[in-house]
Amino acid sequence: MRVRTAQMVGTGTPGAPGVRVDVYVRPGDAKRALRAEVLEGLCGRPKELSPKWLYDERGSQLFDDITRLPEYYPTRREREILLAHAGDVARLSGADTMIELGSGTSEKTRLLLDAMEEAGQLSRFVPFDVSEAFLRRAAADLAREYPGITVHAVVGDFERHLGQLPGGGRRLVAFLGGTIGNFKPAQRALFLRELSAGLRPGDGLLLGTDLIKDRERLHAAYNDRAGVTAEFNRNVLRVLNRELGGDFDPDAFEHFAPFDEENAWIEMRLVSRCAQTVWLSTLRRRVDFAEGEVLRTEVSCKFRQAQVEAELAEAGLTLTEWWTDAAGDFALSLALKR
Ligand SMILES: C[S@@+](CC[C@H](N)C(=O)[O-])C[C@H]1O[C@@H](n2cnc3c(N)ncnc32)[C@H](O)[C@@H]1O
Repeated sequence: MRVRTAQMVGTGTPGAPGVRVDVYVRPGDAKRALRAEVLEGLCGRPKELSPKWLYDERGSQLFDDITRLPEYYPTRREREILLAHAGDVARLSGADTMIELGSGTSEKTRLLLDAMEEAGQLSRFVPFDVSEAFLRRAAADLAREYPGITVHAVVGDFERHLGQLPGGGRRLVAFLGGTIGNFKPAQRALFLRELSAGLRPGDGLLLGTDLIKDRERLHAAYNDRAGVTAEFNRNVLRVLNRELGGDFDPDAFEHFAPFDEENAWIEMRLVSRCAQTVWLSTLRRRVDFAEGEVLRTEVSCKFRQAQVEAELAEAGLTLTEWWTDAAGDFALSLALKR
């Protein structure tokens, strides 16, 4: 695997002052991966795409808007837990390096960085995300806010590049926002095994998981009244239009995100409002949609403590702390590599 380190190679925009940026997902690779996935996922049945394609620059911005919606409780609940326990995380992990997978804006993570800095133990922050432009901006902001530390951003896909996580020091990997719920169970087990395999005894994982709760609140969180989640979901069609020369009309698809009781996951769907045919010129493919046909764009699994603990143990990680917000909506687990 070749890595493009922005300051050294100079392709793409250089890293901001004080930021090192390693790029494992080059635009050409991403396009090839998207093509392969679309051939399989859009031309098969049921139609399905990976949620990572939701997060181009506009999608990342829309997700950030979602985190402030009144119905979207996970971000507020996770922040509440971090406000109460960031100091405990710093102390119990003993980490000097914070790695954040799917880091986005790293907004809540600042609570952890502050606690580690206050304890005099923070030396390095590694935000890791697939969304390059957004990550570069976030990393530049963080380097300005924490001038005493190394900010080493990694543009990578956490399904392919966990082996590239920087080593050295005592590391705490944060995986927040309930993003782990976007894996289906088999993918999740594989992800946890691979992540754990790259950790050394004493390294830690701080994992945010959304918990099973009242169906109406779950439904409201993913079907907000202002339609921001709908716009976020439909954004994937704009990505396909741009990257694959598609002619999707995003308004010809309805956003719907029901809770699937059997799988205990929210399923984000785009439902074709009519029978229609879409042309993807780069692939020279027609894709037919029947009226009411579903394209699944994301699942978001909801959890219970025993399940999280068992899945961590299966991957060689020992749950040492389980914190929830006062309402019991969301949980943060601290697990250590055995
Ligand atoms: C649900 S958002 C969470 C953002 C932030 N951690 C939070 O808690 O608000 C998921 C984040 O993971 C990133 N992401 C999604 N799939 C990814 C992948 N396969 N590899 C790396 N990052 C990914 C997205 O770009 C986005 O920033």
